[in-house]
Amino acid sequence: MKRERILLEYDSFDNENQLPEESRELLQKAVDSLERAYSPYSRFQVAASVRLANGEIICGTNQENAAYPSGLCAERTAVFYAGSAFPGIAMEEIVVVARKEGGSELLPACPCGGCRQVMQEAESRQQHPIRLIFRQEKTGFIRLDSVSQSLPFRFDPASLA
Ligand code: THU
Repeated sequence: MKRERILLEYDSFDNENQLPEESRELLQKAVDSLERAYSPYSRFQVAASVRLANGEIICGTNQENAAYPSGLCAERTAVFYAGSAFPGIAMEEIVVVARKEGGSELLPACPCGGCRQVMQEAESRQQHPIRLIFRQEKTGFIRLDSVSQSLPFRFDPASLA
């Protein structure tokens, strides 16, 4: 047996003003789209905005359903929307934000495992890293250089071969 170790390096920002201007723009678009979440069951609103290599910004929100598992998270809504509207155009950066319905402050929310799996496959298809930014603690943000870092062990399409 051998003990292995994974090193995770990432950037942390104490508040949104420290983010680069382009990322702040993406953050603002995500915040603006929070009100478009359909989340009557959890009352938890999530939004994800994606910047594409052609300059387009795609936003998605969580879309719930009375048959609970039939709903979809914000990140997957955004990534599938981007893939459908702009196939073949690389995704460069994704910002994820969340808040309680009626609340004004953003809450820490790391993308769930299913969304990380989907973002990772998008990244691997386009062979270009996608930066991932999400809220940490009260005011801070975490930025990963690549979504793969968020899911070091994952189901690989090669397993299906
Ligand atoms: N949710 C997201 O949209 N993204 C995540 O990464 C985690 C959770 C949504 C799903 C559901 O509508 C609500 O947040 C509460 O789980």
